[in-house]
Parts: sequence; structure tokens; C-alpha cells
Amino acid sequence: MALSIPVITIDGPSGSGKGTICQLLAKKLGYHLLDSGALYRLTAVAGMAQNVDLHDDVVTAEIARHLNVVFHPADSGVIAVLDGQDVTADIRKEAAGMGASVVAAHIPVRDALLERQRSFQQAPGLVADGRDMGTTVFPNAVVKVFLTASAEERAERRYKQLIGRGESANLRDLLDDIKARDTRDTERSASPLKPASDAELIDSTKMSIDDVLKAILLLVEKRIN
Ligand code: C5P
Repeated sequence: MALSIPVITIDGPSGSGKGTICQLLAKKLGYHLLDSGALYRLTAVAGMAQNVDLHDDVVTAEIARHLNVVFHPADSGVIAVLDGQDVTADIRKEAAGMGASVVAAHIPVRDALLERQRSFQQAPGLVADGRDMGTTVFPNAVVKVFLTASAEERAERRYKQLIGRGESANLRDLLDDIKARDTRDTERSASPLKPASDAELIDSTKMSIDDVLKAILLLVEKRIN
């Protein structure tokens, strides 16, 4: 049954526009949305709250396995409620993103989150946002996209996003963080960030969100409808 429910995977580095594109795509198609990065961010945030060493793969995998989280769809993506508390803003902070990339490098953490991610495959379909959606979590996805953009463009987008939210930001620091996260995500041995062999590559550096969405909808039309 689950196998016939279509999955669209959108993988790519931080700031490639995946989050926005996945939200728009899920809304347009009436599909469910899996923000897999939120699960790694939640693991990091829960670990930091418990003062654990995020480099400890056994302890962080325990935290990942027992995450008591509920996601609620919202216009701005998903609202994450951890142990009854809305932690949506906490998990979007830079520290949560850096922490997520540390815990995400642990195989036991990735294993602990695998089935939870697959359980999002529900009718009428799923849009899955992440790094290894097309390679590891949903290898049979009907549409696979690898969305990227230059590091400079991604840092600029993040800068505008933070300033727009009224937060302080430094472009150079953001670029350094993005490069550090890219290195950690692409060079780790567990599910490294790389395009699936059957993924469609889209470089959004010079594309508008609308153009990217149109390109993906064309693929969906060809493969699903
Ligand atoms: O996508 P997002 O920026 O929320 O992801 C935060 C971090 O979680 C990434 O930098 C990456 O290290 C990790 N991640 C991952 N696999 C996923 C999603 C996120 O390793 N499927």
C-alpha cells in the first residue's frame, strides 16, 4: 500500500531554497510534508537542553529514538511541539542547525530516525525535504530533485531571511557556517549529502522561487499525473 503513495524528494544543501519549495509544492499538490532537518534539529535542541555532548553517538541516538514530538502543518512550514512545548523558533536558530549537523553525522542517530521519517508516507502523497531523502530514506521515490545554489547566494538568502525576521546577522559568518555545514554534510560517511543517481539536478543560483517550482511541477506532471 505505502509503496503506491507517491513521494517527491527534494535534497540539497542548506539555503538552497528546499524548505520554501517543499512547502509550496506540498500545498499546491495537497501532499504531506516531511521536514527531515527538523528531526535532526530537534535531536540537537533536546540534547543541548539536557546538557549532553552532541558528539556522543549513543546518547544522542537515545534522544532521537525517544523524541516526543508532534508536527502541525502551518503556512510557514511546520510547527514543532516537543514534550508539549512549541520549539519551532528554537530549532530554526543557527546553533540548532550547527548542532543538527553534528548529531546527523552519527549512524545510530540516523538509524533511530529512519522509520519515523518513512511513516510520513501517507496518502495522497509526500514531499520530503532533506539531504538523503532520495538516496536512503525513499529510494523508490517517483520524483527526485537535487536542489543547489552557490554558497555565496545561499549565505545571502539566509542573511536576508534573518534580517527580515529582525535578527542580527553577519554575512561573512553566515558564509563560513554554510561552508562548514556543507563540508560536514558532504564528507560524513553516514548518508552523505549527494544527489541520487536518478535525481534531477536544479541549480537555483539565478532562478526565482517561482521558476524552481515550475520546473519541479513539470517533472511531477510527467512522472505522476
Ligand atoms: O535542512 P536543515 O538545515 O534543517 O538541516 C539541518 C541539518 O540536519 C543539516 O545541516 C544536516 O546536517 C542534517 N540533515 C541531515 N539529513 C537530512 C536532513 C538534515 O543530515 N535528511
